[in-house]
Amino acid sequence: MICFLDLGTSKVSGLLIDDLSTSTIHAFSSIETSGVKKGSIINISATASSISECLRDIEQQSGLKIKEILVSISGEEVSSTNSVGQAAISENEISARDIENALNMSSTLKIPNDKTLLYVVPISFFIDGQGNIDDPLGMNGIKLEARSHLIHCSKNTKDNIKKCLKVSSSGIGIRKYFYSQLGVAHSVLTDYQKKLGVCILDIGAGTTDISVYQNGSITFSKVLPYAGDYITEIIASALDIQSSDAEAIKKKYGSAFSDNINDEMLKISVENGKKSISRKALAGLIENSMSKILRHCLNSLEENNLLNNISDGIVITGGSANMEGMVKLGEKLSNLNFKIGIPKYNLPRKSDNLIKPENSVILGMTKFYALEQDKEFTFNQSKGIIARVLEWIRTEL
Ligand SMILES: Nc1ncnc2c1ncn2[C@@H]1O[C@H](COP(=O)(O)OP(=O)(O)OP(=O)(O)O)[C@@H](O)[C@H]1O
Ligand SMILES: [Mg+2]
Repeated sequence: MICFLDLGTSKVSGLLIDDLSTSTIHAFSSIETSGVKKGSIINISATASSISECLRDIEQQSGLKIKEILVSISGEEVSSTNSVGQAAISENEISARDIENALNMSSTLKIPNDKTLLYVVPISFFIDGQGNIDDPLGMNGIKLEARSHLIHCSKNTKDNIKKCLKVSSSGIGIRKYFYSQLGVAHSVLTDYQKKLGVCILDIGAGTTDISVYQNGSITFSKVLPYAGDYITEIIASALDIQSSDAEAIKKKYGSAFSDNINDEMLKISVENGKKSISRKALAGLIENSMSKILRHCLNSLEENNLLNNISDGIVITGGSANMEGMVKLGEKLSNLNFKIGIPKYNLPRKSDNLIKPENSVILGMTKFYALEQDKEFTFNQSKGIIARVLEWIRTEL
């Protein structure tokens, strides 16, 4: 049994699957949290109590005791960069050690003292300047170059997650940390889209995570500190109501595209009385604030010369992808093709309610981890040491 945990700004989700080959789901739980803001833990005891509740629920549903979890990390403290590392090929034919050396060189980029390496994603290899090779093992050459995408997170992020588990006194250990967006890609994208060039926007509550795939690999990622909570706060302040009321109104009546919304007046009961606003005015507020988020994303793509490299367009996922009108708004702001990313997962009918954009991370983590395990098995079979090195880099706690 393998247990995954996604720490989001609005909720902690847990998923228990039997094994990686079938990924049959044994338990799923999603618990609201107030301990996380913009994807980072700001209150240990509140987060610990949501984690405990979530894991207790998973244990009750499955009748099993959880001993270890795999945790996803996102948040504004996550940053990434592309890097290149070179190594001389020791004996003309490229060995696992040469690949290890080149990858190691690519990951030794100087990073600020408060950051730590979360993940190294090999993008491609070049031999004597010729390239885009997926697997150079056994090829001939003199100089090997590894291109990789490095993802860093704040040292505090891992420490805080460990503290939360300690406070919840569950005795549960952490087997691995993941960057949440690597999971998302496996749940909402096809290999063809990744080859063609595509951008995913995971618009959650606290963060909008941008990632770009080209030629099958992630080549760009960035976390913006605005998402659904920002829209909610705009509505709360415009109507002078509590955030919880604004959140409910947004979900029930909201649309991100105001052009075809009518003027019907909504009479809304809120904590401190009644308020009224037209559907169109509400959609106008949402369209305005969501446009700011999407424009920010489009600008990031433009600044990094990526707009012309995403032929398949933009896939929006995360809870805010449930907002009506997102595709129309995206297409109003740019001439790219927009789609909603719903996770693909084979489930029995009764668990259909899991197949929602807000569960893209946790469902995708299972596929991502299965692929990682496969790769490591292949490397180990060929007596490769890269697997162990990558394992070491990735699980450095
Ligand atoms: N039907 C809906 N209409 C509009 N917004 C919605 C709807 N359903 C969910 N949302 C929004 O989705 C957000 C939650 O999404 P999600 O669960 O993906 O976030 P998270 O993973 O908890 O946070 P993050 O990834 O940002 O740390 C909330 O802001 C919520 O208001
Ligand atoms: Mg999320």
